[in-house]
Amino acid sequence: MLNGLEKMRRTAVYPGSFDPPTNGHCDIIKRSAKLFDCLIVAVAENPAKKSFFSVEERVIMLREIVSEYGNIEVDHFDGLLVDYTENAGAVTIIRGLRALSDFEYEFELALMNRHLNATVDTIFMMTDEHYSFIRSSLVREVARLGGDISDKVPPVVEKYLKERLP
Ligand code: COA
Repeated sequence: MLNGLEKMRRTAVYPGSFDPPTNGHCDIIKRSAKLFDCLIVAVAENPAKKSFFSVEERVIMLREIVSEYGNIEVDHFDGLLVDYTENAGAVTIIRGLRALSDFEYEFELALMNRHLNATVDTIFMMTDEHYSFIRSSLVREVARLGGDISDKVPPVVEKYLKERLP
């Protein structure tokens, strides 16, 4: 019989803007889902960041991307990530690291989150080297300028971008 803490250890939250989700995000999602019984991909509603796709669109895209996996849920949240994580019954946040340039920002985020709630901890996964140069804003820019993004995003995201961009 599992106690409460053991159950919490089996769930992880992978938060992000996912505007839109890229193959880099998918790589982290798939690998994290192998490590935990339940992975919650949580789309952050970040008022400080002007988003291209609505939260609802990002959730729809992510749900389609993870549809073949039985242990991945997609959700969205506003407010503090640590509060969301605790309320979701988890103690683990997953973040991807692409390059040294990510480190300082992620380090600050993880330390602030730990100050806010010491029961929640962050685990970092190295992004696959094929995706280390991909970020959502770059993908949007390449798509807007007519470049090929088919190997950088899942098909559903390519479809949404093509529909949205002139
Ligand atoms: N592969 C490809 N791209 C990746 C990636 C990966 N593995 N990991 C991150 N990226 C890219 C994203 O595409 C995004 O690119 P963009 O800037 O061009 O849009 C960029 O890296 C930032 O990544 P993201 O994971 O979306 O981080 P974020 O900084 O937008 O949001 C949250 C991070 C959601 C975790 C943070 O804002 C948060 O916790 N918000 C809730 C409020 C809160 O608790 N604040 C206090 C935190 S201390």
